[in-house]
Amino acid sequence: MPVDDNRSSPMIAQKSSLPSNITWHDAGINSAQRQKLNGHKSGVIWLTGLSGSGKSTLANLLDAALHRRKVRSYVLDGDNLRHGLNRDLGFSATDRKENIRRVGETAKLMADAGLIVITAFISPYRSDRDAVRELISPGVFIETWIDCSLEICRQRDPKGLYKKADAGEIADFTGISAPYEPPLNPEITVCSDRLSETEAVAEIIAFLQSLEIIK
Ligand code: ADX
Repeated sequence: MPVDDNRSSPMIAQKSSLPSNITWHDAGINSAQRQKLNGHKSGVIWLTGLSGSGKSTLANLLDAALHRRKVRSYVLDGDNLRHGLNRDLGFSATDRKENIRRVGETAKLMADAGLIVITAFISPYRSDRDAVRELISPGVFIETWIDCSLEICRQRDPKGLYKKADAGEIADFTGISAPYEPPLNPEITVCSDRLSETEAVAEIIAFLQSLEIIK
């Protein structure tokens, strides 16, 4: 599959404020070569939405669907990364910003390695998501709004967290005592309170095909 060189390296966008005495080393094998070897383009499918909207479930179903198609994919999940890489972070706006920054940098590296990365983070602040968009080459970052009403998320309450938040046992809980800023112009919106899981995954797959990220 031909790979467009303009989007070949998610690494190209370097920040102006680089640390001093640090030199960038170009890789011998570039992202376009890795994508060619894989037979598909790389991408960052950035799922954003309320807790309980279905991000993790859909991320894992999408990952499995891609795997069946012999696409190299990987899920970065909010709860899971908070067990390791991001275990020092809480849920203040500052900590969430750092959480999303680290995930954005990680996803960028994984996309550079030729993978389709699926991220499942509430990522409630538009500015944090936009910063990740800036970091990654155009066409690679695919903001995917998992749109589900707060009422349905509350009803589902898979981890019992809304109940705890209502009882005042969790501070800064998204949708209750902390904001969620819906995307204004996402690449794709998946209404997870109206679609079945299978339909939702099919919508994302069809979108990836329409962009020729996968066959
Ligand atoms: S984010 O806002 O920084 O993007 P992230 O996706 O990593 O959040 O983690 C969200 C998960 O942490 C939720 O699915 C939930 O299980 C758990 N959680 C614990 N406390 C909170 C809170 N105050 N607000 C939202 N989620 C919380």
